[in-house]
Amino acid sequence: MTASVIEYYLDHASTTSMRPSAIEAMRVFSETQHGNASGQHVASRRAKNALEEARERAAERIGAGRPHDVIFTSGGTESDNLAVIGAALASQRTRVVVSAVEHKAVLEAAHSLLSRGREVVLAPVDANGVISATGWEVLVDTPTSLVSIQTANNEVGVIQPVREIAGRVHAADADVVVHTDGAQSFVSTGLDVASLGVDLASLSGHKFGGPTGVGLLYVASGTRIEPLIVGGGQEAGLRSGTPNVAGIVAMVAAMEAAVVEREAFISRAQMERDAFESLLVGGNQGVKVTASEVERLPHFSHISVPGVDAETLLIRLDQIGVLASAGSACQSGALEPSHVLTAMGLDADEAGRCARFTFGWDSPPGIGEAAARAVLDVIGELA
Ligand SMILES: Cc1ncc(COP(=O)(O)O)c(C=O)c1O
Repeated sequence: MTASVIEYYLDHASTTSMRPSAIEAMRVFSETQHGNASGQHVASRRAKNALEEARERAAERIGAGRPHDVIFTSGGTESDNLAVIGAALASQRTRVVVSAVEHKAVLEAAHSLLSRGREVVLAPVDANGVISATGWEVLVDTPTSLVSIQTANNEVGVIQPVREIAGRVHAADADVVVHTDGAQSFVSTGLDVASLGVDLASLSGHKFGGPTGVGLLYVASGTRIEPLIVGGGQEAGLRSGTPNVAGIVAMVAAMEAAVVEREAFISRAQMERDAFESLLVGGNQGVKVTASEVERLPHFSHISVPGVDAETLLIRLDQIGVLASAGSACQSGALEPSHVLTAMGLDADEAGRCARFTFGWDSPPGIGEAAARAVLDVIGELA
C-alpha cells in the first residue's frame, strides 16, 4: 500500500507531530520499564523515579516553585476541567468568570457548574478577540471562586493580557483563583506561571510535539481544588489513576525541545506565516487577515475570504493536499459558527468564510509561499 503524501500540513494548532526527542524518550521508557509507578517494588520505584524526574523538569520549564505544583493529566481538556470545576467546587463562592473565547474545554466545564448552583459570567472580547484587561474589579465584585483566561486564542491566535488581568483580579480580591489555558501558546511564548501571576495553568502535550493524551495542570501551592477523578489517590490526590509515565516523559522531552528551539521556531514560523499572508493579501481576491494589528502567536494565520464558503474551501484544499481547518478541531468536525468569531462580533455568514492555517516546528521552508499559491488557486476556482 502506498502511503498518501501530505504536502502542506497547516493544522499544527489541532495537533503537531511528535518531536524526535519525545519519540525517543517514549521508546526508551517503554522498552526498559514495566513497573506501575504507584507500586512498592523496585520496578515500580524505577517508574516512580522517572515520573518524579519528569515532574521536576516540567516544573522548571514553567517556572513553578515546586515540582509538586505539577499534576499530570490526560491532556488539555482534563486539565481545564480539573481547574475550572475543581476550583469552583472547592470554594463556597458562587461566581465563575471565564472569557467568551475560551476553548470548549473551559467553557463547557464552566457551563456544567450551572446545575450545581454556580453563576457563570462571560468576559467579553473586542473585535480582534482580545479580552479586555479592564473592568475586572466589577466582574469579580460578587464573591468569585475562579477566573479563567486563555494565554492565547486557539482559533485566531491573539495573545491575551493574562499578567495584567491576573494582577487586577488578585488586587481586587486575593482569594480569586486565576487559571490560564496555555495549550496553544507554550510552543512560542512559553509559560512562566510566576511571572504571569496565575494560580492554575493547563498545558497539552500534543500541541508542542509531545504525544496526545497527556498534559499537565500547574497548581500553585495553597490553591484548593477538588479532584474530578477519584480512586488510588495518585498525583497528590488530585488525579487518581495509574500515571502514563511513557507519555509523561515524552511530553517533558518535547517541552524541553520546545524551549531550546523556541527562538528559532518563532523566526521560522513568522517568516513562513508572513510570506503566506502577504501573498494571500496581495492576490487581489479580497483575503483579509484576522487580528493582524494586534499581538498574535507567530505560527497562526486566520483569514477570511469574501464570497467563499470556508467549508468548501477546506474540502477542496484537502483534496489537493493543503490541510487546514476552520478553527477548533475539537468540535467533532462540525463546522458550526465559531463561538470565538461570534464573540468578536462576526455574524454566521462572516464566520463561515474564515479558515485557520497554523505552522509547526517541522514545517518545511517555503511552505508558506507554496500553500498561499494553492489557496489562491482554489479561491479563484470557487469565487
Ligand atoms: C486552548 C486549548 N485548550 C485545550 C485544548 C484541549 O487539549 P487536548 O486536546 O489535549 O484535550 C485545546 C485543543 O485544541 C486547545 O486548543
